[in-house]
Amino acid sequence: MTSLTPMVAELVDYYDDGEAARHFQFRLLDQQQWPPPEPGQFFMLSVPGAGEIPLTFTQLPDQNQHWWALVRRMGSVTSALFRLEPGAILGARGPFGRGWPRPGSDQTPVLLIAGGCGLAPLVSQAERLLEMNLGPVALIYGARSPEARVLGRERDRWQHKLALFEVIEQSPGQTARRTPLDALPDVLAHWGHEPGATFMCGPEAMMTALSQRLIERGIPPSSIWLSLERRMHCATGTCGHCYLSHRYVCQSGPTFGWPELELLMQQPVTTQTPPLLSC
Ligand SMILES: Cc1cc2nc3c(=O)[nH]c(=O)nc-3n(C[C@H](O)[C@H](O)[C@H](O)COP(=O)(O)OP(=O)(O)OC[C@H]3O[C@@H](n4cnc5c(N)ncnc54)[C@H](O)[C@@H]3O)c2cc1C
Ligand code: FES
Repeated sequence: MTSLTPMVAELVDYYDDGEAARHFQFRLLDQQQWPPPEPGQFFMLSVPGAGEIPLTFTQLPDQNQHWWALVRRMGSVTSALFRLEPGAILGARGPFGRGWPRPGSDQTPVLLIAGGCGLAPLVSQAERLLEMNLGPVALIYGARSPEARVLGRERDRWQHKLALFEVIEQSPGQTARRTPLDALPDVLAHWGHEPGATFMCGPEAMMTALSQRLIERGIPPSSIWLSLERRMHCATGTCGHCYLSHRYVCQSGPTFGWPELELLMQQPVTTQTPPLLSC
């Protein structure tokens, strides 16, 4: 089990992106090392005097243990983080959870679907796919408004490497709401491929509807992967805050294959679940 004790980390740099979202670069101090994280895994960041929160890596730690995360300002901990300046000392522990499956070595077309800040957990998977340079890759990126979009630098960099379809829910002069679900048929027709693997992250209702729509089109359920968010405290499978049926999302997730997730969503929490511990 990974430790509950954070390592000492420093805030190195930051820049703003979108509405109330900011990229932060961190590094571990004192020659400390993490086991190499996989795309889709997460870490716990402690902000002194405020608390500890789970965050995804948008850039995995390099050999000097520097990494980036994109943070949306939500409540007390993220607001405290936004008040810090480079040089601030924090705590960090990880990596945790199950990352995205490693792409196979064939030419399978891969579809990525993200809503809002849900693009963050897909960044390192997209980079891995583009680096492997296998089959075609498409990204459907949905955002509430043009201003709410994030990861502009990454999307610019990907322009010529993958097929990028941006879906803005509320554009000026547009009356009907448009989401990645609405855009899916047009995108697949335009892209010209049926996905052999789909990775998605965003609001759970959006991901559920998209999974069902893909399956209706004949896409195998086992090729669909989703990343979930739950309240997390320990990230080590001891506190029970992240239960999904009889599983801990912090350990069995945050990424799940659709067949497993569909089963978990149908099962009530059993009386056999481990007792809740406070942490
Ligand atoms: C595995 C994982 C990875 C994550 N990665 C990122 C990331 O890369 N970037 C990022 O900005 N956020 C990420 N989050 C969400 C982030 O952890 C929460 O936004 C953060 O904990 C909010 O803390 P806070 O004290 O600022 O807000 P709080 O005061 O705790 O909450 C403010 C509001 O946000 C809601 N909220 C808080 N946490 C969550 C959550 N996990 N899911 C849904 N609603 C929530 C609360 O209900 C409340 O309405 C991730 C969450 C998980 C579980
Ligand atoms: S956060 Fe998953 S069990 Fe504590």
